[in-house]
Order: sequence, then C-alpha cells, then structure tokens
Amino acid sequence: MWDLAVPLDFRVAMTSSHIANVMQERRVFPPPAEFVARARIRSQAEYEAMWQEAAADPAAFWGRLAGELHWFEPYREVLQWNEPFASWFVGGRTNACYNCLDVHLGTPRQNKAALIWEGEPGEVRVLTYGMLHREVCRFANGLRSLGVRQGDVVSIYMPMVPELVIAMLACARIGAVHSVIFGGFSSEAIADRNNDARAKVQITADAGWRRGQQLPLKQNVDAALAKSPTVEKCVVLRRMGNSVPMQPDRDVWWHDLIAQAAPDAAAEPMDSEATLFILYTSGSTGKPKGIRHTTAGYSLYTKKTCEWVFDLRDEDIYWCTADCGWITGHSYIVYGPLAAGATVVIYEGAPNWPQEDRFWQIIENHRVSIFYTAPTAIRSFIKWGDHWVDKHDLSSLRLLGTVGEGINPEAWMWYHRKIGRERCPIVDTWWQTETGGIMMSPLPGVTPTKPGSCTRPLPGVVPKIVTPEGNEVAVNQGGWLVIAQPWPGMLRGIWGDDQRYREQYWSRVPHHYLTGDNARRDEDGYYWIMGRIDDVLNVAGHRLSTIEIESALVSHPLVAEAAAVGRPDEIKGEAVAVFVVLRSGEPSDALREELRRHVRKEIGALAQPDDIRFTNALPKTRSGKIMRRLLRDIAAGRETVGDTTTLEDYSVLARLREQEE
Ligand code: WT7
Repeated sequence: MWDLAVPLDFRVAMTSSHIANVMQERRVFPPPAEFVARARIRSQAEYEAMWQEAAADPAAFWGRLAGELHWFEPYREVLQWNEPFASWFVGGRTNACYNCLDVHLGTPRQNKAALIWEGEPGEVRVLTYGMLHREVCRFANGLRSLGVRQGDVVSIYMPMVPELVIAMLACARIGAVHSVIFGGFSSEAIADRNNDARAKVQITADAGWRRGQQLPLKQNVDAALAKSPTVEKCVVLRRMGNSVPMQPDRDVWWHDLIAQAAPDAAAEPMDSEATLFILYTSGSTGKPKGIRHTTAGYSLYTKKTCEWVFDLRDEDIYWCTADCGWITGHSYIVYGPLAAGATVVIYEGAPNWPQEDRFWQIIENHRVSIFYTAPTAIRSFIKWGDHWVDKHDLSSLRLLGTVGEGINPEAWMWYHRKIGRERCPIVDTWWQTETGGIMMSPLPGVTPTKPGSCTRPLPGVVPKIVTPEGNEVAVNQGGWLVIAQPWPGMLRGIWGDDQRYREQYWSRVPHHYLTGDNARRDEDGYYWIMGRIDDVLNVAGHRLSTIEIESALVSHPLVAEAAAVGRPDEIKGEAVAVFVVLRSGEPSDALREELRRHVRKEIGALAQPDDIRFTNALPKTRSGKIMRRLLRDIAAGRETVGDTTTLEDYSVLARLREQEE
C-alpha cells in the first residue's frame, strides 16, 4: 500500500500526459458451457441488471440483500454518507460470528465440514460447523474470563491453525476487536501494532511450522510485549509441545483457559458500525496504518462477493491459500466463506515442503474444487517445473482465482492450461485491504476473461479512471483508478487517524475514493490494473506501467519472474532497469541482448530495458508483492531509504547489491 506523497516529477507528468498503453492482449476465453449451466449467475443480462440497479440506488440494492444476515435489531436506514464517513445499516444490531456459525445450526450444514486443516507435517483436522461453534464459544468464554469486553483490542499472532480462526471468531462473538498480525513479522512490528492499537490481550502459540523450521512465535511475542505496555494477558496455544517460558501473572495456556469453559456463549448484539477488526497494512514509507472494518456492511459484502465470484455451492471444497494475517484471509478464508456455509481448506505451511508439489498434493487429497492463490505463487510453480503438477490428479478443480498483484498474461495461460486443464474459469480479483472485499472480477459463469484483466466491477462498485484533475480519461488511456460511490465493505477509517484517512483516500480527487492504482479501461469496458501510482516509469516523456514490461519479459520461455523500475537517466528522464529471475538457462550477455530484442518485439523500442540484471529472487513483501521501491534504489545505486520491515527476505537485497553491474 502507498503512504507516500506522489513524487513530484510524477505529479508534473500526470498533469500533461496519460500512461501509454502498450499491452496488446487480444485473447478472450468465454466461460465453459458446463460451468455456465450450473452457475449462480449465468447471463450477461443478469449481471448488467444487478450492476445497474446497484449503481442507480445502492441503498435499495444492498437493503434487499441485507435480509440474508441475522439481525438482533433491524436497521433504520441502509446508508448514511457523510463523506468520507459511511454508516451502513444504521441502528441495526447483528454479529459477524453469529452470521458465520449460528445461522447454520439446525440446518443440514450443522454437521458439514466448515474447516479442513492440514498442518505442514501432514496431520489433518476437520471441524464441522457444529464443532467450530462449540470451540468458538469455549474460547469466547475464556476471553470473557480474562476480562475482555466489547471494544477491547485483541492482538493475534499465530500460525495457520484452526485456533487462529477460532480466536478471530471468538473476538467477533463477544464484540472485541481483533488485530491479526502475520506470523512472519518481527517482534518490533508486533510491538508497533500493539501500541498503535492499544491492544489489551495477546494470543499466540509456542511456535509454528514453516518449511520444516519452527517459527519461535512465543519468543517474538515475549520481546514484543516487553515494549507493549497496554497488553495485560497473553494466551498461548500449544502447537508444538515446546517448553516456552510462561510469565505467571501474564501468560495462560489456551488449553487451561478453556478447560472449564462452557461450549455455548451468547453472541453480543453489535451495532452495525461497531469495529469488527483492524488490520495493519504497511505504507511504502512511514508507520503502518490500522485499516478499520466494521460489522454489518463487511459481513454482507464478504458473503455476497464470495458467492458471486466463487460461485459457491454446498458441495464445493474451497481453498484460499492466503494467511489469515492478510485481508484475503479475513475476507475469503473466514468471514465470507463461513457466512456462505462453505467447506474451507486451510494449510499451515510452505508450498514447497517437503517438495514442490505440496499444493497439488493437497488439491488431490482433499478434492479441492475452488482454488484461490496469488500470482507470485503461480510464478514459483512455473519456475519449479511442470513435472510437479503432472504427478497429480487435479480433476476435482472447477474454478481458479488470483489476487494480490496483476497476473502476467503468460502466467495466466499457464494457470489456465496446466492447472485448470482449460476447463476452469479464472477469476482475477482486484481489491485491497481497504476495500474489504473483491471490487472487480469476472463472474465465472458470465464474463469472458482476458488474460491479465480483472474484467469488470461487481454490482455496487462504480470505478472511474481519471487524471489528477478528476477528468475521466478516454478508452485505453491509463489514469488513476478511483471509486465513485461508497460500498458496504469499505474501510471506515484508519485507526485513530481520521485526518490521514481523509488525506490519503478522499482529498486528491474530490468526492472519490483514491485507490492508489493506475488502470485503463479497454473498448469492451474491461479494466486493466497497471500497477501502483508510485511505480510508474517515465521514459522520454512516455509513461509506462511496470506490469506491461514485466509481462513482456515473462512471456519469454526462459524467464520466470521480472520486475521493472525506472532509474534516473540524463537523456531519457528515466531509463528502464529490469531484474530477471530465470526459469532455466544461464545468465549471459547474449541472453541480455535476446531479452532486449524480445521486449522490443513485444512492446516496442520505448520499453526496451537499458539495464538487465539477473537474480535468484526478487525482494518481496511478506504477502508476495514485489518491492519495486527497493529495486529503484538499487537500480539508481542509492542506499535504500524508508521502511524495509515488510521485506520478506533481507538476503535478497544483499545479493542484489553484490552483483551490481
Ligand atoms: C493492492 C492491494 C486484495 C487482497 C490482497 C492484497 C494490488 C490486488 C490485484 C489484481 C492487479 C492487484 C493492487 C492493490 N492488487 N489484486 N487482481 N490485479 N493488482 O491487498 O495488500 O491491500 O494490496 O494489490 O495494487 O491496490 P493489499
């Protein structure tokens, strides 16, 4: 996510020009007939009618759907919009946990698998909706016994085990606000977030598994809590059976906490706008911001988008490979799919443990039918080689999805052919931590897909592409992607910082939510995300988007992954520097020349890279996004400035610096 002010040179450029569109992707894949025949939404006309209805009268549209939630108290008004602050379902009372669990009790879903969990070492646990309800109630009672009350913040730092989901839902049940911190973060990052949130209770585990190694979670928490004065209690799950130091007046074992706890606990009737959770997302610079989501609108938005985009049916086995530490895990592992009554697969560990086919093994073993993952993972699979895929029966799959970054068209084609066997629609879902749920995506039974495009907005989402003055750009011209209307899943603010919320999202383009992404809309009304506003290159007065140059490189058979950045150049303004990870073959000057020629052929001389550096890995955030900001510094020969706490692997940076040209 971006925090920084748009760089000055970029602002100047934006006033005079638009982003050159150089991507020429013409392939179109209509939804397969067998898929359409059974889909929830199956015609273009149906989609258009829903979209028009929602755009014309959002309150009527969402009000009609709100009946799918359980209400302790009915709401008085669907939407109050005091820009930039939205209140949805004003005056109503509901509970996000109740909507995920209690609504299924006494129905045939009560004894259906809610969670199928696989640990990295291979153990499997299945919890039905009834069992999950009981465990959540026990833990909710445990939290209450520690003095946790409505509005208290509970910080969760755990491995991907069922207890992580249980902890989140238990907080929601009693009206506590959860703040989940991804298990890969350092103690420094935990302390920062705990202090900003004023967390009262910490939940963690002795350790977690990652690529055969144990992550010392409790140890990190101990270091963090030494600097988190607001945290009074720490609940520790025994995942490994390790002996970890317990601080007697502060730490309590999870199993001791629930030993006497009753398996039922009333769900608090929460105000529609009560905070459900905060989730910290890092800025390019500066301190992380706590994105605030609330109860009713978020619950409804994640449920409906989950049903529309994943076409969920009761017999599906649905697997989203994200971690609950990210918004994808919140919305599409926990709140969306459980409210929709889905069976959700959760996997604790790494995709290449013990070998590079772990994901395919999981799909085969559990008969996964819907698979939702990130482009960075797909590029790894391609690099690891097709033989890992070929060993497995993937015939249970019927739908594939991606999220997190743009997907290079050649990676999309691989996903389509190799994993989907040309039978499964691919939903490329564009959204953000701030949007709460998916904003643009194909509907799998309706929308013909184009590799690399997130296609069209969901009902209730009104995007525009504008210049910094707020004027809409023409077809196929790039510009700032903004959203013109409030939607139920939108963030309600930044925790404790209304001013920053207003400035970052609602001030640059008046009356519109600024996404921070560049995009273009093609002649069919399809959207193509072109990357973050601050990643744009400006070469000889032409602005180029990173994804287009990267996609051209990835379409070369030897290239697994690529990142393009600009570096200062006296003549051109910016020169194009690319970092390339090879699938196979050896780095050489001949290959450099060949890749230059390849990009020239695919895009044009303008985009031809000036510098090509080969590397084993790219610096990425822990959620898998390429950190182009760091690469920009390296390309320019600068010391890295700003925040690197979200970098996944520091050694990547060191290696990149060592082999400077
Ligand atoms: C940013 C949001 C949304 C959950 C995971 C990431 C990029 C996300 C796509 C996509 C192109 C995408 C955007 C966006 N992004 N999905 N399908 N195509 N770009 O959440 O960490 O809040 O990041 O991820 O740049 O603004 P996040």
